[in-house]
Amino acid sequence: MADYDAIILGAGAAGLMCAGRAGQLGKRVLVLEKGEKPGKKILISGGGRCNFTNLGAGPANYLSANPHFAKSALARYTPRDFLSLVESYGIAWHEKTLGQLFCDGSSKQIVEMLLDECAKGEVEIRCGEEVTQVSHDEDFTVETANASYRAPALVIATGGPSIPKMGATGFAYDLARQFGLKVVEPRPALVPLTLGGEELLFREISGVSAPVVASAGKARFPEAALFTHRGLSGPSILQVSSYWKPGEEVAVDFLPDNSGDWLLDRKRETPRGTLRSILREALPDRLADILAEKLGVETELGNASDRALRAAQERLSRWSFRPSGTEGFAKAEVTVGGISTSALSSKTLEAKSVPGLYAIGEAVDVTGWLGGYNFQWAWASGVAAGEAIAATA
Ligand code: FDA
Repeated sequence: MADYDAIILGAGAAGLMCAGRAGQLGKRVLVLEKGEKPGKKILISGGGRCNFTNLGAGPANYLSANPHFAKSALARYTPRDFLSLVESYGIAWHEKTLGQLFCDGSSKQIVEMLLDECAKGEVEIRCGEEVTQVSHDEDFTVETANASYRAPALVIATGGPSIPKMGATGFAYDLARQFGLKVVEPRPALVPLTLGGEELLFREISGVSAPVVASAGKARFPEAALFTHRGLSGPSILQVSSYWKPGEEVAVDFLPDNSGDWLLDRKRETPRGTLRSILREALPDRLADILAEKLGVETELGNASDRALRAAQERLSRWSFRPSGTEGFAKAEVTVGGISTSALSSKTLEAKSVPGLYAIGEAVDVTGWLGGYNFQWAWASGVAAGEAIAATA
């Protein structure tokens, strides 16, 4: 006889959501967490205020080998559903920008809410229990250093390898492979990019930021970019980093509000001005200086040819960086790739070839943009699996 109806590996956002839902629907649920407390990434998220969802979250805001996979779960548990839960606990919130919802108070409130939801479902949560081994006969047997537990349903909710110093590992992938599920090569996402070679010069303006439009391939993000002592960061760069692949370029439009013949117009209005002084009107001084220097237009605008100014404007609108790499999993907010969606049902998150085995949250090859989208996937995939488990006999 199994000890539980379901064992959930990992007390993160997805695992706690799944546990609460299955528990409240009548299942006996155990959550095993290797950390000393649950919800550690939630606690540090959003600068301590947890950007818990995004009102605009839809399938288009996610990367996956199968862009349709997330549709079903996201449609059945929406940002409004999570917001209703937050409001039912009296947690005050605000919209910061672009649909991003944060707690007014602290991320702790979200963890406490999830733990309350689990308590309502009589879920047992055991922290300090690192799962080391799983085997499968008619049930799943889960081993930790302290004990072994059995259940007919097992949920992989152990996240991805981002931020290893918090204990993040590729455990989910090892387990998936053990059960014959494919894993899409994981790589760091929402991560700062590094610059080398001639672009090292930009490191001199570390700390300077500007509103730009950054793009990698077809993905374009109009937000701030920040120059760092290692390269490029800021929201627009973090967003494109998820799409960027080594060897590719990242294009930055430094003049998103000044398109067309802006420099030619400025030449007519202020022929005695220099490129440097004109750029300083649109950009932070140190950035304007470095761009003007690189463009090499030293004369007064009135003496510069229209052709040279058009070329300068074109380059400023599509400045090409060739990042030498990323700052890696150590600095990545999430992981692109993971357990292949081809191995899972999009409705239930159950493995097609292993009945009773589920994978949810960041462990799966579904990765959201910056701005509350990753938690929304954790909530939605957790609810989908929790309800599916509850629906089994
Ligand atoms: P998560 O990583 O949260 O949980 C997995 C759990 O499994 C962990 O508690 C881990 O200890 C446990 N575990 C691992 N191996 C185990 C084992 N062998 N045995 C037992 N337990 C094990 N997203 C967003 O939408 N808004 C935001 O504001 C932020 N902010 C943010 C800030 C920072 C600094 C980071 C690093 C990330 C974010 N994110 C975010 C991303 C978000 O945190 C992430 O997408 C979710 O936490 C993923 O939830 P999961 O439950 O899938 O994994």
